Amino acid sequence: MDQNALKKAVADAALAKILPHLDEKSVIGVGTGSTANFFIDALAAYKTHFDGTVASSDATAERLKKHGIPVYDLNGVGTFDFYIDGADESNAHLHLIKGGGAALTREKIVAACAKTFICIADESKWVDVLGAFPLPVEVIPMARSHVARELVKLGGDPVYREGVKTDNGNIILDVHNMRITDPVTLEKAINNIVGVVTNGLFAMRPADVLLLGTAAGVKEIVAG
Ligand code: 5RP
Repeated sequence: MDQNALKKAVADAALAKILPHLDEKSVIGVGTGSTANFFIDALAAYKTHFDGTVASSDATAERLKKHGIPVYDLNGVGTFDFYIDGADESNAHLHLIKGGGAALTREKIVAACAKTFICIADESKWVDVLGAFPLPVEVIPMARSHVARELVKLGGDPVYREGVKTDNGNIILDVHNMRITDPVTLEKAINNIVGVVTNGLFAMRPADVLLLGTAAGVKEIVAG
Protein backbone atom coordinates (compact mmCIF):
# COMPACT_ATOMS: atom_id res chain seq x y z
CA MET A 1 0.00 0.00 0.00
CA ASP A 2 1.38 3.42 -0.84
CA GLN A 3 1.36 6.28 1.64
CA ASN A 4 -1.64 8.00 0.06
CA ALA A 5 -3.69 4.80 0.33
CA LEU A 6 -2.82 4.63 4.04
CA LYS A 7 -3.80 8.29 4.49
CA LYS A 8 -7.13 7.69 2.76
CA ALA A 9 -7.74 4.58 4.88
CA VAL A 10 -7.31 6.48 8.16
CA ALA A 11 -9.42 9.39 6.91
CA ASP A 12 -12.22 6.96 6.04
CA ALA A 13 -11.83 5.26 9.42
CA ALA A 14 -12.16 8.60 11.24
CA LEU A 15 -15.29 9.40 9.29
CA ALA A 16 -16.79 5.99 10.10
CA LYS A 17 -15.96 6.56 13.76
CA ILE A 18 -17.70 9.93 14.09
CA LEU A 19 -20.65 9.45 11.70
CA PRO A 20 -22.90 7.63 14.23
CA HIS A 21 -22.45 10.55 16.65
CA LEU A 22 -23.36 13.37 14.25
CA ASP A 23 -26.66 15.24 14.16
CA GLU A 24 -27.96 18.45 12.59
CA LYS A 25 -26.33 20.54 15.35
CA SER A 26 -22.88 18.95 15.16
CA VAL A 27 -19.81 21.05 14.38
CA ILE A 28 -16.62 19.22 13.41
CA GLY A 29 -13.09 20.59 13.85
CA VAL A 30 -11.03 19.95 10.74
CA GLY A 31 -7.24 19.90 10.53
CA THR A 32 -4.72 20.73 7.84
CA GLY A 33 -2.51 18.73 5.48
CA SER A 34 -2.73 15.93 2.97
CA THR A 35 -4.26 13.41 5.41
CA ALA A 36 -6.84 15.94 6.59
CA ASN A 37 -7.61 16.66 2.92
CA PHE A 38 -8.60 13.01 2.42
CA PHE A 39 -10.91 13.42 5.42
CA ILE A 40 -12.47 16.59 3.98
CA ASP A 41 -13.09 14.93 0.62
CA ALA A 42 -14.73 11.92 2.30
CA LEU A 43 -16.78 14.15 4.61
CA ALA A 44 -18.33 15.99 1.65
CA ALA A 45 -20.64 13.07 0.84
CA TYR A 46 -22.16 13.39 4.32
CA LYS A 47 -22.57 17.17 4.51
CA THR A 48 -26.27 16.90 5.31
CA HIS A 49 -25.47 14.84 8.44
CA PHE A 50 -24.06 17.76 10.45
CA ASP A 51 -24.29 21.53 10.80
CA GLY A 52 -20.79 22.68 9.79
CA THR A 53 -17.12 22.88 10.64
CA VAL A 54 -14.37 24.99 12.12
CA ALA A 55 -11.14 25.03 10.13
CA SER A 56 -7.55 25.03 11.35
CA SER A 57 -6.23 26.98 8.35
CA ASP A 58 -7.26 29.13 5.43
CA ALA A 59 -6.42 26.25 3.06
CA THR A 60 -8.73 23.88 4.93
CA ALA A 61 -11.51 26.47 5.06
CA GLU A 62 -11.21 26.95 1.31
CA ARG A 63 -11.36 23.21 0.60
CA LEU A 64 -14.38 22.75 2.89
CA LYS A 65 -16.21 25.63 1.24
CA LYS A 66 -15.47 24.26 -2.25
CA HIS A 67 -17.36 21.14 -1.16
CA GLY A 68 -20.27 23.32 0.03
CA ILE A 69 -19.54 22.56 3.69
CA PRO A 70 -20.20 25.52 6.04
CA VAL A 71 -17.19 26.88 7.93
CA TYR A 72 -17.83 28.78 11.16
CA ASP A 73 -15.80 31.24 13.22
CA LEU A 74 -14.58 29.34 16.27
CA ASN A 75 -15.61 32.24 18.55
CA GLY A 76 -19.27 31.62 17.79
CA VAL A 77 -19.07 27.84 18.23
CA GLY A 78 -17.66 27.18 21.69
CA THR A 79 -16.74 23.56 22.28
CA PHE A 80 -17.57 20.62 20.01
CA ASP A 81 -17.20 16.85 20.03
CA PHE A 82 -14.54 15.98 17.45
CA TYR A 83 -11.35 17.40 15.96
CA ILE A 84 -9.78 15.36 13.14
CA ASP A 85 -6.22 16.14 12.08
CA GLY A 86 -2.96 14.62 10.90
CA ALA A 87 0.47 14.76 12.51
CA ASP A 88 4.14 14.74 11.59
CA GLU A 89 5.07 12.41 14.47
CA SER A 90 3.29 10.56 17.28
CA ASN A 91 4.67 8.63 20.23
CA ALA A 92 2.85 6.00 22.31
CA HIS A 93 1.41 8.68 24.62
CA LEU A 94 -0.10 10.34 21.53
CA HIS A 95 2.12 13.34 22.11
CA LEU A 96 2.51 14.80 18.65
CA ILE A 97 4.72 17.00 16.54
CA LYS A 98 2.61 19.07 14.18
CA GLY A 99 3.09 22.11 12.00
CA GLY A 100 4.77 20.69 8.92
CA GLY A 101 2.12 22.67 7.03
CA ALA A 102 2.70 25.77 9.20
CA ALA A 103 -0.83 25.63 10.66
CA LEU A 104 0.22 24.63 14.19
CA THR A 105 -1.22 27.58 16.10
CA ARG A 106 -4.73 27.36 14.70
CA GLU A 107 -4.55 23.57 14.94
CA LYS A 108 -3.70 23.85 18.63
CA ILE A 109 -6.52 26.31 19.23
CA VAL A 110 -9.10 24.12 17.49
CA ALA A 111 -7.81 21.01 19.31
CA ALA A 112 -8.18 22.86 22.63
CA CYS A 113 -11.90 23.35 21.96
CA ALA A 114 -12.59 19.71 21.02
CA LYS A 115 -13.77 17.07 23.46
CA THR A 116 -12.08 14.33 21.40
CA PHE A 117 -9.04 14.82 19.17
CA ILE A 118 -8.77 12.00 16.64
CA CYS A 119 -5.36 11.99 15.00
CA ILE A 120 -5.07 10.32 11.59
CA ALA A 121 -1.67 9.29 10.29
CA ASP A 122 0.14 6.71 8.24
CA GLU A 123 2.64 4.46 9.99
CA SER A 124 5.66 6.53 8.91
CA LYS A 125 4.62 9.05 11.61
CA TRP A 126 4.92 6.57 14.51
CA VAL A 127 8.10 7.07 16.60
CA ASP A 128 9.57 5.95 19.91
CA VAL A 129 10.98 9.41 20.68
CA LEU A 130 9.78 12.67 19.13
CA GLY A 131 12.21 14.97 17.36
CA ALA A 132 13.52 13.37 14.19
CA PHE A 133 10.98 15.60 12.41
CA PRO A 134 12.17 19.20 12.99
CA LEU A 135 9.91 20.87 15.55
CA PRO A 136 8.05 23.86 14.05
CA VAL A 137 7.81 27.02 16.14
CA GLU A 138 5.63 29.96 15.07
CA VAL A 139 7.35 33.25 15.88
CA ILE A 140 6.49 36.95 15.70
CA PRO A 141 8.76 38.17 12.84
CA MET A 142 10.71 40.80 14.85
CA ALA A 143 11.60 38.15 17.49
CA ARG A 144 13.15 35.69 15.03
CA SER A 145 16.80 36.07 16.09
CA HIS A 146 16.02 36.31 19.80
CA VAL A 147 13.87 33.16 19.70
CA ALA A 148 16.50 31.32 17.64
CA ARG A 149 19.16 32.08 20.28
CA GLU A 150 16.86 30.85 23.06
CA LEU A 151 16.10 27.64 21.13
CA VAL A 152 19.84 26.97 20.83
CA LYS A 153 20.06 27.28 24.65
CA LEU A 154 17.40 24.54 24.86
CA GLY A 155 19.62 22.27 22.77
CA GLY A 156 18.06 22.72 19.34
CA ASP A 157 19.27 23.84 15.97
CA PRO A 158 16.66 26.30 14.61
CA VAL A 159 16.34 26.87 10.87
CA TYR A 160 14.25 29.68 9.39
CA ARG A 161 11.62 28.26 7.01
CA GLU A 162 12.34 30.48 4.00
CA GLY A 163 9.43 32.01 2.15
CA VAL A 164 6.73 30.82 4.56
CA LYS A 165 4.30 33.16 6.28
CA THR A 166 1.63 31.60 8.51
CA ASP A 167 -2.08 32.41 8.25
CA ASN A 168 -1.44 34.66 11.26
CA GLY A 169 1.29 36.65 9.47
CA ASN A 170 4.20 35.12 11.38
CA ILE A 171 7.31 33.08 10.53
CA ILE A 172 8.33 29.50 11.30
CA LEU A 173 11.57 28.26 12.85
CA ASP A 174 12.08 24.50 12.44
CA VAL A 175 14.14 23.12 15.30
CA HIS A 176 16.43 20.28 14.24
CA ASN A 177 18.40 17.77 16.28
CA MET A 178 16.15 17.54 19.31
CA ARG A 179 15.61 14.23 21.06
CA ILE A 180 12.40 15.07 22.90
CA THR A 181 12.17 12.78 25.91
CA ASP A 182 9.99 15.13 28.01
CA PRO A 183 7.56 16.72 25.53
CA VAL A 184 5.37 18.42 28.15
CA THR A 185 8.30 20.26 29.75
CA LEU A 186 9.76 21.27 26.38
CA GLU A 187 6.37 22.46 25.09
CA LYS A 188 6.05 24.77 28.11
CA ALA A 189 9.67 25.96 27.94
CA ILE A 190 9.42 26.95 24.27
CA ASN A 191 6.07 28.65 24.79
CA ASN A 192 7.70 30.73 27.54
CA ILE A 193 10.19 32.33 25.15
CA VAL A 194 9.10 35.89 24.42
CA GLY A 195 8.12 36.17 20.77
CA VAL A 196 6.95 32.57 20.39
CA VAL A 197 3.32 32.30 19.37
CA THR A 198 3.24 28.56 19.88
CA ASN A 199 5.22 25.43 19.10
CA GLY A 200 4.28 22.24 17.31
CA LEU A 201 4.42 19.94 20.35
CA PHE A 202 0.96 18.68 21.22
CA ALA A 203 1.80 17.14 24.59
CA MET A 204 -0.15 19.20 27.11
CA ARG A 205 -3.17 18.47 24.94
CA PRO A 206 -2.27 15.23 23.13
CA ALA A 207 -4.54 13.35 20.79
CA ASP A 208 -7.16 11.16 22.47
CA VAL A 209 -7.20 8.54 19.74
CA LEU A 210 -4.72 7.76 16.97
CA LEU A 211 -5.91 5.98 13.84
CA LEU A 212 -2.67 4.67 12.37
CA GLY A 213 -2.61 3.40 8.80
CA THR A 214 -0.47 0.28 8.42
CA ALA A 215 -0.05 -2.34 5.71
CA ALA A 216 -2.04 -4.69 7.98
CA GLY A 217 -4.95 -2.24 8.30
CA VAL A 218 -5.95 0.74 10.45
CA LYS A 219 -4.90 0.39 14.09
CA GLU A 220 -6.77 2.33 16.77
CA ILE A 221 -4.45 3.45 19.55
CA VAL A 222 -5.44 5.28 22.72
CA ALA A 223 -2.90 7.12 24.84
CA GLY A 224 -0.77 4.74 26.92
C1 5RP B 1 -0.02 20.95 9.33
C2 5RP B 1 0.10 19.72 10.14
C3 5RP B 1 -0.21 18.44 9.48
O1 5RP B 1 -1.19 17.78 10.23
C4 5RP B 1 1.03 17.59 9.42
O2 5RP B 1 2.04 18.33 8.78
C5 5RP B 1 0.78 16.28 8.67
O3 5RP B 1 0.57 16.55 7.33
P1 5RP B 1 0.28 15.40 6.27
O4 5RP B 1 -1.07 14.83 6.63
O5 5RP B 1 0.28 16.12 4.96
O6 5RP B 1 1.36 14.38 6.38
O7 5RP B 1 0.44 19.74 11.29
O8 5RP B 1 0.42 22.09 10.03
